[in-house]
Amino acid sequence: MSTDLMTLQNPLPAIPMTRGCPFSPPAEYEQLRQAAEWHKVTVMDGRQIWMVPTYSAVRAVLGDPRFSAERDRPGFPYINQSQKELIKSSPAMVTVDEPLHSQIRRRATYAFTGKRVEALRESTQQLVDSLIDDMLAKGGPLDLVTEFALVIPSTIISGILGVPAEDHQHFHELTNKIFTLTNGPEGVAAGRLGLEAYIRELVLLKVQEPKDDLISRYVTEYLNTGELELEEVVTQIRTLLIAGHETTSSMIALGAAFLMEHPQYREQLRQGDDKIAAGAVEEMLRYLNIMHRGLVRMALEDVEIEGKLIKKGEGVLCALNSANRDAEVFAKPDELDFENPNRNHVAFGFGIHQCLGQGLARMEMQVAFKTLFTRIPDLKIAIPLSEVPFKTDVTVYGVHCLPVTW
Ligand code: HEM
Repeated sequence: MSTDLMTLQNPLPAIPMTRGCPFSPPAEYEQLRQAAEWHKVTVMDGRQIWMVPTYSAVRAVLGDPRFSAERDRPGFPYINQSQKELIKSSPAMVTVDEPLHSQIRRRATYAFTGKRVEALRESTQQLVDSLIDDMLAKGGPLDLVTEFALVIPSTIISGILGVPAEDHQHFHELTNKIFTLTNGPEGVAAGRLGLEAYIRELVLLKVQEPKDDLISRYVTEYLNTGELELEEVVTQIRTLLIAGHETTSSMIALGAAFLMEHPQYREQLRQGDDKIAAGAVEEMLRYLNIMHRGLVRMALEDVEIEGKLIKKGEGVLCALNSANRDAEVFAKPDELDFENPNRNHVAFGFGIHQCLGQGLARMEMQVAFKTLFTRIPDLKIAIPLSEVPFKTDVTVYGVHCLPVTW
């Protein structure tokens, strides 16, 4: 056994490991992927769970119903306080197994079909253009997160759900409280309770005055008919509101930072057509991996995956960022190929919980990156990269702020 693997085994690595390059997974993942044996990693409260490092094994686990995502099962391994806090509400689609999962998911799917997403492309383009007009009028330096990256997904998901535009800052601050791991249990709980109180009030307003939006549809079709309780509606809307803005805004800001630091890719995007823009988005999703802590599951029985036995009750951590750099599947995993992207990456997960909003996220990012670098070709980070505050303390990786100028 090599010295490196000995180092990994004793002590066991704790999650999250530290990134060397802000745009790439920690170096240890490469070693874990190459190792003949799987390793256990230490997660929250000192528990040890199996790290699943390869692409094929990650898909095997996420596609296997013998691995549960149901977080209120006794012994389920949490990787952070927000996961522990969010299950105190009524069940969300991402934390339950079948058949309940499909029952919850089907109520929301119609709003995220390819046709509906494409119908939003023009208004997304108008929004992105108006944000860039404002940036150009103000002049740099300014924060790309608050002026651009956060506004796009927040505005679009708010429009779908029927959340007032003026409340963006409020629900974003509450979401931040839930996911900022240094907040401690009380801070995380305050975030969840605050966000749910806000959504509850909104749902009750739609009871009085339904509109043409997703919350109103939940009210008329599921709440008023008795199919769902108020708290169930609140949890479903909370899931969509959080997932719909937090992830995509992180990807837009992190992707923009990456492109500004890698002019060859930025130029390729700028000079390419829509197909190249779509390829750039796929490759950045695969390469940057904002879900950097991975996805946790628990074995419901003894399961053998690729010759490794995972015993009933044991936890597994599917390392999406490691799987997406697996040379067995991606010919040049540490480079980006905008012309021939491999859309089978696992940045959106895999199996029954694969991201419901992936089409929407893709469309928003295609419009955002292409327009930003076409209209402001010399956009650059206004501070040294080493001073950019990367979000190592938050569940979803990204940047806290990104001062840019041109
Ligand atoms: C699930 C990533 C954008 C809604 C997931 C999962 C991943 C993911 C990895 C799987 C979770 C698991 O298996 O435990 C991302 C990334 C995004 C993004 C990287 C942006 C770049 C969005 C958007 C929405 C959304 C815009 C819109 C509402 C959801 C929902 C689930 C989910 C509802 C749970 C699906 C289920 O359990 O059936 N996402 N997501 N996501 N995502 Fe996204």
